[in-house]
Amino acid sequence: MKIGTPLSATAKRVMLLGSGELGKEVIIALQRLGVEVIAVDRYENAPGHQVAHRAYAINMADGTEVLELVKKEQPHLIVPEIEALDTQMLAQIEEQGLAEVIPKARATQLTMNREGIRCLAAEELGVPTSKYAFAESEQEIKQAIDNGIGYPCIIKPVMSSSGKGQSTIKSEADIKVAWDYAKSGGRVDRGRVIVEEMIKFDYEITLLTVRALNESGEIETHFCEPIGHIQVDGDYVESWQPQAMSAAAIQKSQDIAKAVTGNLGGRGLFGVELFIKGDDVWFSEVSPRPHDTGMATMATQYQNEFELHARAILGLPVSTALREPGASAVIYGQMNEKGIAFNGVEKALAVPQTDIRLFGKPEAFEKRRMGVALAYGHTVEDARKRAKQAASKVIPAIK
Ligand SMILES: Nc1ncnc2c1ncn2[C@@H]1O[C@H](COP(=O)(O)OP(=O)(O)OP(=O)(O)O)[C@@H](O)[C@H]1O
Ligand SMILES: [Mg+2]
Repeated sequence: MKIGTPLSATAKRVMLLGSGELGKEVIIALQRLGVEVIAVDRYENAPGHQVAHRAYAINMADGTEVLELVKKEQPHLIVPEIEALDTQMLAQIEEQGLAEVIPKARATQLTMNREGIRCLAAEELGVPTSKYAFAESEQEIKQAIDNGIGYPCIIKPVMSSSGKGQSTIKSEADIKVAWDYAKSGGRVDRGRVIVEEMIKFDYEITLLTVRALNESGEIETHFCEPIGHIQVDGDYVESWQPQAMSAAAIQKSQDIAKAVTGNLGGRGLFGVELFIKGDDVWFSEVSPRPHDTGMATMATQYQNEFELHARAILGLPVSTALREPGASAVIYGQMNEKGIAFNGVEKALAVPQTDIRLFGKPEAFEKRRMGVALAYGHTVEDARKRAKQAASKVIPAIK
């Protein structure tokens, strides 16, 4: 493994496709290792643009735009940070040897569509999941429910993220509203949804799983301590690490994560989303990249999830060791304005053992994640309390 000098003929070049708050931290980790970074997003001055060597705003769902940029910049590695990409073009780029796609182009194809990853996990790998079916009309949703999924259940557009177009169906009367909402909330209106049995879990976790090379150049799988989190309307509001779990549930979780990430292949960090009830574990979905709930690792691990991703993709060794318990709490825009200010940061940071990230997004929306408060402590309960306290002191304002 060799890293050259940025902006010279020996540079190791990495291109991020998607440069939000998660990409920004990956870029910072890469910059620290002397990598030349090209940040791409759909709009100007995205968080990652602000810390990269070069920045581009293009339509990343348009394969020709992506290909043109890849030919111009000639990155060694392409690191997708979002799902909404022309993944077929990524497969072509990989096949032609223009760049290596992290972790693999196939992984980006399978995970951008719920159908791909769900069928792989449940049918090919035999991993436990909620009961599910796919539907393309109200009638098909009703059939799926009557044929065994039952009420309550959840429907989601097959191509969507952050809870968009997702709703719970409690009885037959809810089907129409849920179907209309799903059709409007999908990334591409394909009118196809997954109908999922509602799992009444005790808690849910993200198991950050890293595929990295060891000293002999072989891939090894590493697991971080489980991250617990709370989701509201499909977006995480709070996360903490470690989540207490039974030994059996941890073992099952790691087995599932190993099977799924092993099939997806390549190098990098994955966020494996799992539901836990007692000793039972269900696979929900996986991100082949850092996970938003994993922001807590900026307060808890020697190598946070972004550093782990940077190291793994470069072929460097990793350590997933926990330093101390900690938590993260989200700071929202709370208004629809450009160029907002954040008051009270000094009050937030006066809460002991806390830290903060403000992402620098040019435009706020009420429910847009603009920053995150981090806290560490002797116990998760203590850290959660202080992360929330710190987050609550940051007050978005027009000036
Ligand atoms: N089958 C299910 N049973 C119970 N809860 C569920 C189920 N599916 C989803 N949820 C709840 O909804 C949340 C969001 O679901 P999911 O992760 O599938 O959506 P998403 O749009 O991909 O969200 P994100 O992009 O934020 O991960 C889950 O974290 C969980 O809290
Ligand atoms: Mg999810």
